[in-house]
Parts: sequence; structure tokens; C-alpha cells
Amino acid sequence: TASAVGLVIAYFLGSIPTGYLAGQLLKGIDIREHGSKSTGATNVLRTLGKWPALVVLIADVLKGVAAIIIARSFCPWLAAAFSSTPPTASDLQTWVPWAVGLAGIAALLGHSRSIWLNFTGGKSAATGLGVLLALSWPVGLGAATTFGIVLAMTRVVSLSSILAALTAIVLVCAFEHPLPYRLLVIAGGLYVIVRHRANIGRLLAGTEPRLGRTAPDTK
Ligand code: G3P
Repeated sequence: TASAVGLVIAYFLGSIPTGYLAGQLLKGIDIREHGSKSTGATNVLRTLGKWPALVVLIADVLKGVAAIIIARSFCPWLAAAFSSTPPTASDLQTWVPWAVGLAGIAALLGHSRSIWLNFTGGKSAATGLGVLLALSWPVGLGAATTFGIVLAMTRVVSLSSILAALTAIVLVCAFEHPLPYRLLVIAGGLYVIVRHRANIGRLLAGTEPRLGRTAPDTK
């Protein structure tokens, strides 16, 4: 039950439609009808400009961080406070990493399949970064470094996100991490890549826009 509560909180945190709200508040538009149709910070940058994009980016990263911190601290507390047989230390060691990792996946799903937006949303790269930083900061830092290098070299955000997700998968396997973290970071990384399938099609066709160029019209 404690894990389920953590999952629901994480899903609802991920669901907070930051990019959509920015579009509504600043221009009265539905950002899902503009640019790549995504509610992520990249599409906010194209559609609304630099500062709204920065705010949405930070908020989306923080949604992932918060989901993990809450699952990590709140789930064990809930289990200890309300269970008739409080969990032992070894119980906690076994299920908390699963609860925390699954909360990360729930936050990603919430961001890209928001309950407030008819189960649409973004591509979960920024929220994924927040999840990674809170789950394992060296993995998060490695993924962010790849993102920064690829972005500086190509100016293509989607390619940077895809390669950052791959970096996270490689690093979580290379470093010492509990099995649930490994499996769930692999699943989350693959999910982020699959969410970029339209971008992958455009990258292969050579039509994916670089930062500062015209937005694509299809998702
Ligand atoms: O994080 C999303 C980014 O990688 C791509 O966004 O709007 O160009 O599809 P967009």
C-alpha cells in the first residue's frame, strides 16, 4: 500500500502540466497545437520563448526530483506508521528500491500521459533527468553531460535527449546500483527514447529542426 501511495503521488506530480499552463497563461494557446505538439520545455522555447522555457525546464526536472524524494522518505514512513506488522530493516532494503524506482517511472508516465491533458504531454526527458539526479546523481550528471555536449555540437535537442537516455542506461549498469534501479532506469530510458519516435523519423529524414529554426508540424 505504501508503494502504491508513492506511485500515485509520483504520477500526479509528473502530471502537473507545466508547459501547457505556460501556454495558457502567457498566450492563451494550447501548446499541443503548436510546433512539435509536445508540452516539454523545447516546444515551450519554440512557442513561447527563452524564459518560459527555462521555468518549465526547471519545474519539470523538480517534478522528477520530488517524486523520488517523496517515495524514498514517505513510503517507509507510511509502512512503519500504518502497518500492523512494521517492516524490518531487511524488508525495507528489499522493497524500497522497487518503490522508489517505480515512482520514477510513474513520474515519467505522468509527464507524458498527464491526467489533466487527456493523457497527452511531453517526452519526459527533463522529468527523467530529475528522477536520475535524485536516484543516482552520478548517473544524472553523466546523462546531463552527454545532453550538453551533443546539444553544443548539433543544436538538436531530441538527439541530445536520446543520447542522454542511452548514457543513463549504460551508466546505471556500469555503476554499483540495486537491481531495481538498474531495471527501472533501463525501462525509463527506453520509454524516453520511444517517446521520441517522431523525432527519430525526422532525424533519419534529415528534417529535424535545430534550435532556433522552424518547428516541425507533426508529433
Ligand atoms: O525533451 C524533448 C526534446 O528532446 C524534443 O522536443 O519538442 O523537439 O520534440 P521536441
